[in-house]
Amino acid sequence: MSILLKNGRVVTADSDAVCDILIEGETIVSIGRNLSAEGAEVIDCVGKLIMPGGIDPHVHLEMPFMGTFSSDTYETGTRAALHGGTTTVIDFILQKQGSSLRSAFEEWSGRATGNAVGDYSFHMAVTDFNPDTKEEIKDMIAEGITSFKTFMAYKGALMIDDAQMVGLMQEVKKHGGLVTAHATNGDMIDTLIAQHRAQGKLTPLYHYLSQPEVTEAEASGRFADIANYTGVNAYIVHLTCEGALNQVRRATERNQRVLVETCIQYLLLDARLYEDKANGAKWVMSPPLREKKDQATLWAGINQGLVNVVGTDHCPFMWEQKLMGKDDFSKIPNGHPAIEHRMELLFSEGVNKGRITPQKFVEVTSTNAAKIFGMFPRKGTISIGADADLVILDPQKKHTISADTHHMNCDYSAYEGWEVTGKIDTVLLRGKVAVDAGETKVSKGYGQFIKREKTNI
Ligand code: URP
Ligand code: ZN
Ligand code: ZN
Ligand code: ZN
Repeated sequence: MSILLKNGRVVTADSDAVCDILIEGETIVSIGRNLSAEGAEVIDCVGKLIMPGGIDPHVHLEMPFMGTFSSDTYETGTRAALHGGTTTVIDFILQKQGSSLRSAFEEWSGRATGNAVGDYSFHMAVTDFNPDTKEEIKDMIAEGITSFKTFMAYKGALMIDDAQMVGLMQEVKKHGGLVTAHATNGDMIDTLIAQHRAQGKLTPLYHYLSQPEVTEAEASGRFADIANYTGVNAYIVHLTCEGALNQVRRATERNQRVLVETCIQYLLLDARLYEDKANGAKWVMSPPLREKKDQATLWAGINQGLVNVVGTDHCPFMWEQKLMGKDDFSKIPNGHPAIEHRMELLFSEGVNKGRITPQKFVEVTSTNAAKIFGMFPRKGTISIGADADLVILDPQKKHTISADTHHMNCDYSAYEGWEVTGKIDTVLLRGKVAVDAGETKVSKGYGQFIKREKTNI
């Protein structure tokens, strides 16, 4: 079975040209002008952009968290991702404190295997670093889990202390992996939450006010410092603000490189949404949305090459689940739905508004994640031999985002009514048309576990 994409504007992180792409089986076999192939299915791409399938390295599917589970399964979450042009996601396995990495890996694999529609991989969140965990690091890397997530917040559930951080980084450094961090100061946040609750300050606004910028800047700096000392490859997830990015700038002054991910919501939404007492819970996530000046910092950071990846931290909860915290912000499950609209929102607000180039768009939605997380060049680019994971986008088509039409298993949209310019028409995953004209063409079980190599950036 072969597919020939004709006359599209093919954009990668470092090229931009009108040409044809020939796909055989799961891979790209030829790229050039005036290609022909007997019997191939031809897709006319005149006027369309063809880009590498998106990689979202920060999603939480069916995750046990704050007394409930995030509402997208591997099936619904990866399907929604495909509709939005994201062909591969990296989810987080959470080690249970007191248990092994292996048992968590088995639990997460059990939920994903046979259910994912799109391709997926896992980070391993180390929530309890001890002599037994230490012995498992090497094995996880051998099995394709080359990145280790740490939480510097959520004490009692996920947080590790600095002693564990040093030990983990030293072990991961020894075996060539990458350490990532949810970099916020958990003790300080817990203190502010307790103070607000004691004062009867219980609305969603106090979620925001319990996590001021300094809590993120301090932890980002501390994470960078320990990483610098141990020499490990370091990546900060969901960085939101100027203070935290300035810590990354500071690290560059001693010739350190700290990789940075932000998420689409931090570029587009701001903390004024928390003033809405009735609906503010929709955007309760950690870290919280910030200010306009932070958005400006993040857009600039992308163009300065300081912000390498735009993910989502997709962690949806139904409105009824959000209502667990209707009388107390600290009980609102943290997270929001985003997996489906990252690419179209960034294209509309970024490329179409002239903030970033199409190449930069490809870099931050796909190529950099593929390199950082060891999937390049199989994923993250358009080249001969690469997986045929491709997005065909109509750059001028308009549509409106709504919970009525999205595919995520969530009964509200964080972007309800937003009009975006640029619509994903067709998505290919490993040589198959996965989505076309709004219809899903592949079924659950098509998504494969992607075994990853070490960082290559
Ligand atoms: O609010 C969030 N971000 N929920 C998911 C867990 C995390 O911290 O990434
Ligand atoms: Zn070892
Ligand atoms: Zn986090
Ligand atoms: Zn997260």
